[in-house]
Amino acid sequence: MCGIVGYIGTKNVKDILLKGLEKLEYRGYDSAGLAIADENQGDTQIVKEKGRIATLRAEADAADLDGTTGIGHTRWATHGAPSARNAHPHQSTSKRFTLVHNGVIENYEELKAEYLADVELVSETDTEVIIQMIERFVTEGHEVEAALRKTLSLLKGSYALALLDTNAKDRIYVGKNKSPLLVGLHDEANVVASDSMAMLHITKTFVELMDKEIVTVTRDGVRIQDLEGTEVTREPFTAELDESDTEKGTYTHYMLKEIDEQPFVIRNILQKYQDDHNEIKLSDDIRSALNSADRLYIIAAGTSYHAGLVGKEIMEKAAGKPVEVHIASEFLYNQPLLSQNPLFIFISQSGETADSRGVLVNVKEAGHPALTITNVPGSTLSREADFTLHTYAGPEIAVASTKAYTAQMAVLSILAMDGAHARGIDTDFDAIHELSIAANAMEVLCDQKDNMEQIARDYLLESRNAFFIGRSFDYHVVQEGALKLKEISYIQAEGFAGGELKHGTIALIEEGTPVIALATQENVNLNIRGNLQEVVARGANPCVVSMEGSHRDTDQVVLPPVHSYLAPLVSVVPLQLISYYAALHRGCDVDKPRNLAKSVTVE
Ligand code: F6R
Repeated sequence: MCGIVGYIGTKNVKDILLKGLEKLEYRGYDSAGLAIADENQGDTQIVKEKGRIATLRAEADAADLDGTTGIGHTRWATHGAPSARNAHPHQSTSKRFTLVHNGVIENYEELKAEYLADVELVSETDTEVIIQMIERFVTEGHEVEAALRKTLSLLKGSYALALLDTNAKDRIYVGKNKSPLLVGLHDEANVVASDSMAMLHITKTFVELMDKEIVTVTRDGVRIQDLEGTEVTREPFTAELDESDTEKGTYTHYMLKEIDEQPFVIRNILQKYQDDHNEIKLSDDIRSALNSADRLYIIAAGTSYHAGLVGKEIMEKAAGKPVEVHIASEFLYNQPLLSQNPLFIFISQSGETADSRGVLVNVKEAGHPALTITNVPGSTLSREADFTLHTYAGPEIAVASTKAYTAQMAVLSILAMDGAHARGIDTDFDAIHELSIAANAMEVLCDQKDNMEQIARDYLLESRNAFFIGRSFDYHVVQEGALKLKEISYIQAEGFAGGELKHGTIALIEEGTPVIALATQENVNLNIRGNLQEVVARGANPCVVSMEGSHRDTDQVVLPPVHSYLAPLVSVVPLQLISYYAALHRGCDVDKPRNLAKSVTVE
């Protein structure tokens, strides 16, 4: 949450920073700001505004900003309301130092009391404490770098930050702990970014920073040190993305583009996870970790958690392996009893989710092995786990996750089949074959947008709530369907186990309440249809998504037949599209829903 960029080079920095911030807007869009240092001017110039980058761009265009060094920020508010006052960059009282920060300083109240009792802070943010402390230590006689090191060593929490000093405009200082930060290298400039995507228009060569490192970035080079001042060298890597991978193309929204990409993502996964003999390709280490564990513990949040629920079903049914799935933020402070030989599997699109990372830190401290399944190799969860599996979905930019979810389930299904082979289990589940059938089925559904749009209009345009019901595998998908709908359309939506409604929730059903039922699982088909009758009898407006073979002529969406374990990959597509059109026609900002951010790096 929050994104930061920085540039020091030969070009005018304003548009470079704005373009970078636009790419990082998925990380938060409560407010945004820029600070530009120009060797020919005195103070660092700042423009910051509540709201989106578009608002900032208008302000920045109106201001006469000039300079070749600058930093920028897009904010997801944690401490202090979204406002221009709380927007970054923040400045020290003398205006000598200017700072952008991503993260949360947990002990900022204590630090304020101990070091800044006599300083009047102008914002409500934890960030301002950092900048005022740096100024305090410089005033007391420290060199800037030493003051930065001292300040950072006193902070508890997470930070990725970039600092400008009016007295040394030839450099940007950066530091990092827990929040992601990269330094990018180029002949004419060096850059700083929370995500390589933000600076692909300048360079594809990046150096990853580790926790508790600080870097002095100048036009000609970068110097990395740890907090004790020891120099560190690290090889750069080349970002595999192209700028075009992060563009919308002809689509009006990233979400729609990403929904449509799903069949290709599944086919891409199939390629990446097969060797020349069409056998599953997995490293021996990962295979052995999976097979020697007596129980798998899947840890994740939100949509990734929902993918984990489906993964558990496939893993247990196909490979006979016991699996528990836990919400990361719950597991963190309420850990259940563990088995003798657990393997932890972290599922995370971004690889940065703080709740999951908190669990990973504890798991590593306890000496348990950990595997991360992520769309961003090189992310924090990927680096800190023992093993990583990539979901190969390509950049997911819409805040609501779609293709990452189906990619996660696809990778989990491949692991399940591999596990079944390793344990000598004779399963009828050939993940490779079935995934390619599922990819075709997804494509068929992506071509039925008119139908999904009509369903959204008929059921959801005027509705203040909606219920999703399903049983078995479908139950997990309706939880995801409800999350999708509520996060982008703001309709209150919940996903329930079909058999559970009569135990309380059915009291909420009124005349016309939309109830979307998934009926893809043969063994519970009659049960879920019975549950649907119960709500219809009480006035509900039913919409059924079923699968060819066990469908009825009155069903609104009928999926092409796929293996029941993979039905979730396919049945979620209509739910994603229905949510998309409901949000679109209700006038919501589909790609950037209110109050959310893509990468949740605070607990
Ligand atoms: C919902 C959504 C979130 C994320 C959750 C975990 O559409 O995207 O619920 O799934 O914040 O994020 P990752 O997968 O990056 O750990």
